[in-house]
Amino acid sequence: MSSRLALLTARSLLDNLSGRKVQAYYPGRSMAISSQEQKAITEAFDPGSASFAENPYDVYARLRDLDEPFYYPEMNAYLLSRYQDVESVARNPNMVRSLQAFMPAAYVAEQQRIAQFHDMPNHERFVQFSMLERDGELHRRLRMIVLGKFTRSWVARHQAMIEQTVDRLLDTVLAKVDVDFVEEFAAHIPGHVIGNVLGVPDVDCPQLRSWSENIVQYFDADRSEARKQVAEQATSEFALYLRDLIAQRRRKPGSDLLTHLIEANDAGELSEDELISTSLLILAGGHGSTIDVLGNGMIALLKHRDQLTLLRSRPEYIPAAVQEMIRYDAPLPFFHRYASVDCEVMGISFPKGTKFGLLYGAANRDPQQFAAAHCFDITRSPNRHVAFGRGAHLCLGNNLARLNMETVFSRLLARTKTIELRQSPRFRPGLASRGVSALAVALL
Ligand code: HEM
Repeated sequence: MSSRLALLTARSLLDNLSGRKVQAYYPGRSMAISSQEQKAITEAFDPGSASFAENPYDVYARLRDLDEPFYYPEMNAYLLSRYQDVESVARNPNMVRSLQAFMPAAYVAEQQRIAQFHDMPNHERFVQFSMLERDGELHRRLRMIVLGKFTRSWVARHQAMIEQTVDRLLDTVLAKVDVDFVEEFAAHIPGHVIGNVLGVPDVDCPQLRSWSENIVQYFDADRSEARKQVAEQATSEFALYLRDLIAQRRRKPGSDLLTHLIEANDAGELSEDELISTSLLILAGGHGSTIDVLGNGMIALLKHRDQLTLLRSRPEYIPAAVQEMIRYDAPLPFFHRYASVDCEVMGISFPKGTKFGLLYGAANRDPQQFAAAHCFDITRSPNRHVAFGRGAHLCLGNNLARLNMETVFSRLLARTKTIELRQSPRFRPGLASRGVSALAVALL
């Protein structure tokens, strides 16, 4: 495909590297996708629309049918939607999260400015350059420190705590019968569970929700000045809170993740900024995704009553059902990578600096990988979905996320006779997360 690469003009290469929106960056594209087809799919691919929110999967299917990546000008990114392509790019060490890994500092700063990620010193310091946004040795060092404690068996030791949290919340919602499953139940779980794993005292856990939401919301399309200030303020408050908590843990160590990170800090393995940013990432990375995946899983069960009935009669399917809920409606359906070297994707050459969008949500419905990919099947096996990513950045919290969900659905089914959907739920628009803000159900 080198002849295709040769088609790139110096101008279009520069445009891509400078992050400008370039409609016709890749001239070779027209060889496979007619301009009419590109226009039709561009119109259909509107993550901000209500129709996309309701059902992104038909649009994803059209993207998968293309024989090359779909160029999405809004992000100046090439979207990958087939399982095999998404997986191989996510696994490829030359495909990185951060521009810092291979571009000059001035260029990175300019990109931060274009994306409105500048002028927010604490957000930049603790959120934008967290472990998730690092690559290579820098990333590996931080990840290995966390994994030194955050193993599957250590996570499993928190089962009793998760059960207590879930049962306490269920006591309240079961007494009410008609409830908003998301707002009154699911939204309270990650603050307590992740907070506890980190070592945040119970009394402070409710506060974690608004910090986490306000910090993460700035990654949405709305980068207004007001949102910027809210995100910066939340980051500053959380960093201040953590500094206090770190001082307390230094005086009185615990068996929590924060104590483990403090020990690594004392041993000179990570800086205090990295300690704060890693704690913040663990909280923020797991907060919204947990709420969304609980809501999405509940909706899938309620819309597929045969599967709900089967699960009630065969609770041993709970782990498989949870995996299927995560595959069927992934709460984090999109992440990006940059090519740190010239590369070939779907048989087409792309230059260093090209941005790719990995549509994990589309890959999870690829019929080439999953039989009856659009069916919600709690007995699906194997179920090698990519909702937790792949490769170097594979979700660090995946064991905790699954344990949370398994506990929620097993306690919920054990303590109810039936669950009814009271109102058809509305998914929020957007590409980076998928979930509902309200879910009216009756727990009977
Ligand atoms: C069902 C719930 C969750 C889903 C679907 C999910 C999904 C993901 C995905 C797709 C990535 C990889 C991003 C990429 O490819 O660039 C990721 C990374 C990460 N997740 Fe999760 N996540 C979930 C829950 C959690 C929880 C509960 C935690 C922590 C308690 C967590 C912590 C992290 C961290 C720290 C990373 C960054 C790992 C790295 O950069 O090496 N996640 N998550």
